[in-house]
Amino acid sequence: MPDAEIQAAVARLRAGELVGIPTETVYGLGADAENDDAVARIFAVKRRPRNHPLIVHLALGASLDGWVSEATPDARVLAKAFWPGPLTMILPRGPRSHLEVTGGQNTVAVRVPAHPVAQQLLRAFGGGIAAPSANRFGSVSPTTAQHVRDDLGHDVACVLDGGPCGVGIESTIVDLSRGRPILLRPGSVSREQLSAVLGREVEVNSNDAAVRVSGQLESHYAPRARVEIVERESVAARERAARDHNERITVLDASGINESIDDIARNLYENLRQADLDGIERVLVILPTDEGLGLAVRDRLMRAAGPR
Ligand code: TXA
Ligand code: MG
Repeated sequence: MPDAEIQAAVARLRAGELVGIPTETVYGLGADAENDDAVARIFAVKRRPRNHPLIVHLALGASLDGWVSEATPDARVLAKAFWPGPLTMILPRGPRSHLEVTGGQNTVAVRVPAHPVAQQLLRAFGGGIAAPSANRFGSVSPTTAQHVRDDLGHDVACVLDGGPCGVGIESTIVDLSRGRPILLRPGSVSREQLSAVLGREVEVNSNDAAVRVSGQLESHYAPRARVEIVERESVAARERAARDHNERITVLDASGINESIDDIARNLYENLRQADLDGIERVLVILPTDEGLGLAVRDRLMRAAGPR
């Protein structure tokens, strides 16, 4: 991306404004992580509860000193294996990670994104950029610059267009602050990969109410259309029933049988958004198995199908 565009975005960040940022997972709504007013603006624009913590994004090679109080041995191993990339680690908070960013918690989420534009911006900015996904709270994350403009309009000072996101779903989150590694949100760095690199099984979050992960709320990542999980065998019957009720439906085959699971993840949110644009009332979804990236795709679709 031309340096002039990056410098303009840096100026916005320094002025406490919000910038739409491409990452390899989804687009983020970025602010200077150490500017409490700018961070407060993120919560206001997203209409997100103040106690739902944000991820601090750092440049490749930037020191974690100050951001975390302790980079554990597991954190070093995972950083070496997966950064820059779609992995977020929860670690004990350092003084640069203000309570405004961490939602009042004594841990902080940190990630070094791989997208070249995100890296260019982070290097030019120098500090940490706090960024949630650039959508209103509870809805589908944006995977193009246009999605960000559609969702947030004039509430965002500028959007850097880095093209469509390659991964398409939010980063894997692993909690390293509790002695043993716990997977809080599945993503494209799979549970199997984490376990292999750490040399021990990574537990899947047991829905601990003390840990606030907004993705843990029911009915998250949801389009306007109802999302219904169906078995392949019952699709035809469900389609007939819907037609009898004059309901506008579509089928989303996320099983991975007809398409690679990477493509399914990459296009998932675009497909859900398109269903809304097409006036679809109900999306019938066939889930993949929970292996590899399938676990993350299942997670997002089951939340989209959750009670409203
Ligand atoms: O791929 C991603 O992670 C994208 C891009 C922009 O980096 N960001 C993203 O942010 O998905 P957001 O805010 O939509 O989701 C971050 C999740 C939230 O569910 C939040 O609760 C959790 O990370 N989180 C942040 N800090 C945490 C902490 N200290 N403990 C537990 N969960 C935390
Ligand atoms: Mg989000």
